[in-house]
Amino acid sequence: MRVSINQIMAMKGSERIVMITAYDYSMAAIVDAAGIPMILVGDSLGMVMLGYDSTLPVTLDDIIHHTSAVMRGAKNALVVADMPFMTYQVSIEEAVRNAGRLMQTTGCQAVKLEGGEAMADTVAAIVRCGIPVMGHIGMTPQSFNAFGGFRVQGKTEDSATQIIRDAQALEEAGAFSIVLELVPQELAGFITERIGVPTIGIGAGPDCDGQVQVLHDMLGLQGEYLPRHARRFGEIGAAITAAVNDYAAAVRDGSFPNAKNSSRLDPKLLARLKAADDDADTEEE
Ligand code: KIV
Repeated sequence: MRVSINQIMAMKGSERIVMITAYDYSMAAIVDAAGIPMILVGDSLGMVMLGYDSTLPVTLDDIIHHTSAVMRGAKNALVVADMPFMTYQVSIEEAVRNAGRLMQTTGCQAVKLEGGEAMADTVAAIVRCGIPVMGHIGMTPQSFNAFGGFRVQGKTEDSATQIIRDAQALEEAGAFSIVLELVPQELAGFITERIGVPTIGIGAGPDCDGQVQVLHDMLGLQGEYLPRHARRFGEIGAAITAAVNDYAAAVRDGSFPNAKNSSRLDPKLLARLKAADDDADTEEE
């Protein structure tokens, strides 16, 4: 049985919630086998899987493609799929239709969308259709142009007050959980105390109910760059480079493939094949 949103909500105040992004079948299977309760198919896939400079070019079809693969790989985790830029902002009707398509075609259990108070009616409409919604406030990457870059939000009184209102509005709208991205840890802690649904932090300090990280940051799959809010828990990129180099060297020096990697033909059959070939050559002459 997959983890349910009720189980995630019940973790608030009793155990720290771990969430990781995954974007394909094999990584989702590994993350799932590690017992991670919640996987996010984030639109960060645009940057780490598709090589875009931001999340803005990601389409609903991209998310559907990757979420379907994650659903095949993860058998137990609750899978949340991100709604891409411009799939929920134009109208509530379009948002509901797109959230429904995402859930119906992939089997994901929840969707995530960015925005607080301004998105509360949209969140409520999606939730009313039976589609669980995870909110996402603070520094919301789809609005990085409006923020003037990827900057910590909530450092001024006005901005902190707005983020508190955003969290409250999302809870009232029925969001089952809220991502707090790049906000000061005291503000994240305050919001976590004030609202009844779990907060999931990324760059929001240790006092959230849970944490989410981008898999590629954690595993060292993104070159040298590491955002301040992330930590390398593995050097898989370096391990892949070493393995690829070893493979290339083994092909070049002839040690791969060896007898164990190859199958053999019955010597008598080989002799017959060679003899038949010789006969054919003689006839041609
Ligand atoms: O797209 C993503 O990976 C996200 C997380 C950073 C929360 O939204």
